[in-house]
Amino acid sequence: MKALTWHGKSDMRYETVPDPQIEDAKDAIIKVTSCAICGSDLHIYDGVMACMEHGDVIGHETMGEVVEVGADTSKLKVGDRVVIPFTIACGECFFCQRGFFSGCERSNRDFDKAKKMWGNSPAGLFGYSHLLGGYSGGQAEYLRVPYADVGHIKVPSNLSDDQALFLSDIFPTGYMAAEFCDIKPGDTIAIWGCGPVGQMAIRSAFILGAERVIAIDTVPERLALAAAAGAEVLDFAEADIYDEIMARTEGRGADACIDAVGTEPDTTSGFMAVIDRIKVATFMGTDRPHVLRQAIMCCRNFGTVSIVGVYAGFLDKMPMGSAINRGLTFRMAQTPVQRYMPKLLGLIEEGRIDPSFVITHKGKLEDGPELYKTFRDKADGCIKVVLNP
Ligand SMILES: NC(=O)c1ccc[n+]([C@@H]2O[C@H](COP(=O)([O-])OP(=O)(O)OC[C@H]3O[C@@H](n4cnc5c(N)ncnc54)[C@H](O)[C@@H]3O)[C@@H](O)[C@H]2O)c1
Ligand SMILES: [Zn+2]
Ligand SMILES: [Zn+2]
Repeated sequence: MKALTWHGKSDMRYETVPDPQIEDAKDAIIKVTSCAICGSDLHIYDGVMACMEHGDVIGHETMGEVVEVGADTSKLKVGDRVVIPFTIACGECFFCQRGFFSGCERSNRDFDKAKKMWGNSPAGLFGYSHLLGGYSGGQAEYLRVPYADVGHIKVPSNLSDDQALFLSDIFPTGYMAAEFCDIKPGDTIAIWGCGPVGQMAIRSAFILGAERVIAIDTVPERLALAAAAGAEVLDFAEADIYDEIMARTEGRGADACIDAVGTEPDTTSGFMAVIDRIKVATFMGTDRPHVLRQAIMCCRNFGTVSIVGVYAGFLDKMPMGSAINRGLTFRMAQTPVQRYMPKLLGLIEEGRIDPSFVITHKGKLEDGPELYKTFRDKADGCIKVVLNP
């Protein structure tokens, strides 16, 4: 089959790779009809994600049609149209039973490696390195889905691929980010990053009852899309974010702050962002937590800092003094997608949200390498790319 494969920094290729096979009785194989490029894929594309190997098939926002099922798969049949969550989960372990699917303790085939690095291992993920299972991803014509009974949601025929695809990741992720904020009537939520995840978080915050959302970025079309959802926008190239948020919240700070940027903030966003960049480039640090520091400082006393932007290792110069003395709550996760899918499918069916609003670019799988570049560079007004193999 054809797939997008990783060959190093900024080097994605459209290549022929072996067809996936049923390897376990709980597997299914799907023929991919739509897949998307995620901001998390950019960490791989930019070469900041460790444990990648030449030729790895990446991609973790995938949907399609079931073409083969293993003997031990009871909830799926050939022909079913399904969205696949990016988190691979067994459905039976200690964590899966409690709904913490992204903490599944059976699905990461690189369990020991992850345990050594992080103290314990999270779930395996599709197309996300040999630290998280080494599973082939879904930017391909076909995808092998382990634990397929747990790892799918069936799509009603009246929803298009574009409407349903983002149940795989960015809609649950944005929704979880807002849910972490425990929003009360009258709350103001500040959101760093108006990429696809930030956009979903903005809309989810309003769905969950936020009175005001302050959305921060610098890319004009991303800020415009945030404003269209009803957010007040702040351009970090023009405003001092801390001063501006304080001015807009009677000097207290936002009730909750969402970091939807993660480890690769724009280096134009401040002095510390440049220092972090230098430290990472010279192997004196693993991450660039400029946004997280700001989110902490801009959060009101006893507010919540909700982190969905991804970090990999050890964060330097965190204002923990601010956090403990002012009683902040931290919430964060790789999204346990399975936990959110049924509820969010309901919101789409009720017409409360149509997640396809973020799509700006579509192409075929072979256009993938070019569209990776467009998305990374935020060129041509690109906000979200969907590929149809
Ligand atoms: N926790 C999860 O389960 C999960 C799931 C999906 C994505 N993610 C992560 O969420 C993050 C965002 O993903 P995305 O797809 O929206 O990516 P993206 O790269 O398209 O968006 C990031 C946005 O942040 C903006 N930005 C950069 N520096 C900033 C700053 N200093 N202040 C404010 N905004 C700034 C950029 O201009 C961009 O619009 C990534 O780190 C991704 O890995 C996490
Ligand atoms: Zn993702
Ligand atoms: Zn499990």
